[in-house]
This record gives sequence, structure tokens and C-alpha cells, in this order.
Amino acid sequence: MDKNMKQEVYEKAKAWILEAGERIREKIDAPRSIETKSNPNDLVTEMDQETEEFFANRIKETYPEHYLLGEEGFGDEIEEMKGTVWIVDPIDGTMNFVHQKRNFAISIGIYHEGIGEVGFIYNVMEDVLYSAQKGQGAFKNDQQLPPLNQTRPLEQSILALNTTWMLPENPHVNHKGIEELVKKLRSTRSYGSAALEFAFVAEGILDGYLTMTLMPWDYAAGAILVREVGGTVSKADKQELDLLDQTTVLASRVNIYDEIIDDYVDLKK
Ligand code: IPD
Ligand code: CA
Ligand code: CA
Repeated sequence: MDKNMKQEVYEKAKAWILEAGERIREKIDAPRSIETKSNPNDLVTEMDQETEEFFANRIKETYPEHYLLGEEGFGDEIEEMKGTVWIVDPIDGTMNFVHQKRNFAISIGIYHEGIGEVGFIYNVMEDVLYSAQKGQGAFKNDQQLPPLNQTRPLEQSILALNTTWMLPENPHVNHKGIEELVKKLRSTRSYGSAALEFAFVAEGILDGYLTMTLMPWDYAAGAILVREVGGTVSKADKQELDLLDQTTVLASRVNIYDEIIDDYVDLKK
């Protein structure tokens, strides 16, 4: 993507994400209908749908040649990462949105020919915008985030984990290994919004984030942010993320990445 185009989409995406966030804040206390998707805990509201539709309309009017990969069905059927693809999660952390009215984010990753060029994660209720452009560092509002600490050992690290999927016996990973990992760490956190967990890794307030099932819209922006501060992001078996499928993910500081995967993560498939 050429420099001018990158700057232009950055400016547009920034304006749209702030506008979408404002709409959500205005309606945060409005009554809402809550439906479930794949299971009783997989929630969706009209706000998720309205917000994705808002981005779909803006992207299609402004860039008819771009594609949208979105969670709620307003995007395109995408089978390969050709051209420019906006990967949007209109509300990441819908359960938090419904139950807590906070701790959720809008996430936008813009990829060109499969390369992550621009990423935004907007913590809507705190009005904090994380952003990154490939090769230009990552920012929290207007402040550039420093490179990640690369020396702190695992025993002094805080890792975000989705404990529900990893600590009881489960189909994804040998839970005994995860138990050992949890004992080794300083502590764990679980924020319930993958996008915010990536943003916190990029900010350096979490040392890593390990999870077993994410969709492209959960990590498209986060992966760009974490890489811009020198972190590593891959599947939990060290394979590259492919952006089209459900996947495991580890995002972390470089010096604990191998240790986590080699010594503790024994995937079942
Ligand atoms: C979910 C959140 C959650 C993560 C799930 C995601 P949603 O996204 O990011 O933290 O554990 O895997 O599906 O459904 O709230 O957009
Ligand atoms: Ca999500
Ligand atoms: Ca979502």
C-alpha cells in the first residue's frame, strides 16, 4: 500500500471509529435486545449489527474496491487476502458490553495483499484509542508506546488467558501444561475482550495473551499493534496466523514466547 493511501485510510478509519464509539456511548443505557448465536453465551445485540453496518456503509461508499471481513454479516465472502481488506469487529467483548457496559472495544485491522498496514483498537467507554501503522510504531491516543521489555522472566510475567477454555479438561490443549504455566507465572488476567488484551500487551501492562479460539476480527488489529512494539504474534504452535480461519493465538514479549510454547502449551490438534 503506498504511503499516501495508507495515511488516507488511517485518517478515515480513525474518524469512523471515533464516530462509531460516540454512537455506542450515547446509547449505552438504552434498552436492548440480546440474542444468542453459536451457544447460549455467544451474545449479539442490535448495537453490534448497527455498528458493523455503519462501517460497511462508510467503507463501501468511500472505497468500493476494498473488501470488508466482519463478524456480523455485513461484509464480503473472503477466501483469500487479495487487495485491501478491512477486518472489523464492531464490538469485541459483547458479553462485557451487555453485562458491564464497559471493557469492550471496536477493532479494525486494514490489510493490503495480506500485510497488516493499519490497526485500531478503541476502548469505547474509556475513550482510549490504540493505533498503529506498519513500520511507524504504535500509539495510545497521541502517545507513542515504547518497545516492549525483553528481559523480564516468565515468573514475573502476567499473562491473559481464557481460563474457561484452558484450565478444565478441554478439546484444545492439555490442561495439565496450562496448570503448570499458571503456577509459574506471576499472575493471570482475563478481560473478556481479545482486542483489549492485545492492546494491553502492546502497552506493556500485560506480558502476553494466550487463547485457543479466535476469529480474524478478534486479532487483525491487535497483531499489528503488538508487532509494532517488538512483540511476537503467532498461532500457539508457532505457525503464522492466516487471517481467514479460527485459530489459537499467542501474543507476547519475545523473551518468554518460546518458553511458553515449548514448555507449557501441548495442543491437542
Ligand atoms: C470475543 C471476545 C472474547 C474472546 C472470544 C471472542 P466477541 O469476541 O474477544 O474475549 O475470548 O474468543 O469471540 O464475541 O465479544 O466479539
Ligand atoms: Ca470479537
Ligand atoms: Ca464482536
